[in-house]
Amino acid sequence: MFQMTFRSIIEEMDKTAKPDHPILDVMTRRWSPYAFDGRPVEEAKLHRIFEAARWAASSFNEQPWRFLTAATADRPAFEKLASVLAPANHWAENAPFLAMSVARTRFTHNGSPNRVAVHDVGQAAAHMALQAVAEGLVMHQMAGFDTARAREIYGIPAEFEPVAMIAIGYEGAHDRIPESLRERERRPRLRKPQPEFVFTGAWPHAF
Ligand SMILES: Cc1cc2nc3c(=O)[nH]c(=O)nc-3n(C[C@H](O)[C@H](O)[C@H](O)COP(=O)(O)O)c2cc1C
Repeated sequence: MFQMTFRSIIEEMDKTAKPDHPILDVMTRRWSPYAFDGRPVEEAKLHRIFEAARWAASSFNEQPWRFLTAATADRPAFEKLASVLAPANHWAENAPFLAMSVARTRFTHNGSPNRVAVHDVGQAAAHMALQAVAEGLVMHQMAGFDTARAREIYGIPAEFEPVAMIAIGYEGAHDRIPESLRERERRPRLRKPQPEFVFTGAWPHAF
């Protein structure tokens, strides 16, 4: 009985993806934890993470991504960025590094709307998340933040759109975070099966 319980605790906290088809190891190890260690992230690692964003593909090579960043080493800057977080995302203040992704919503070459700007910013963020794993770090993205406040306190120009907040750091002790968050971390990592989202011929015929 004890062994069963012990095993299920271990299994609950094994956050590695269990893919139906083999994928890159770095992808299986990416997940979005709530427990962060306060230890600062080395600047070289952060530069490599943003370098990964830099080399993402984008429509017309527009590279519409921008990132507002803050590390705990600069407390006022960190608190300014953390102040836009939604109450439900205050846990992210325990991460040593925060970033806000911002999208340029018009093309530079002709000023027309870039329908895929947010797609491209998301793609850059995905690169970052995988690079973070390769660096021994974790990354947790958040939609829950006050975009109007962000625009106001940073003076973000009208042709840019705040997209997501990003917490980056070393994984922390999971027994030190509030039970409500731990419960979320313990949830199994569920994914739709491919036939529910990969179609062929006609909508929604499974591939
Ligand atoms: C764009 C985006 C917005 C998200 N917003 C939040 C958020 O506001 N708060 C939160 O706790 N998690 C947020 N998440 C994390 C997701 O809940 C998480 O990625 C999802 O449950 C899948 O879990 P996994 O990343 O561990 O695979 C967000 C993730 C993404 C990509």
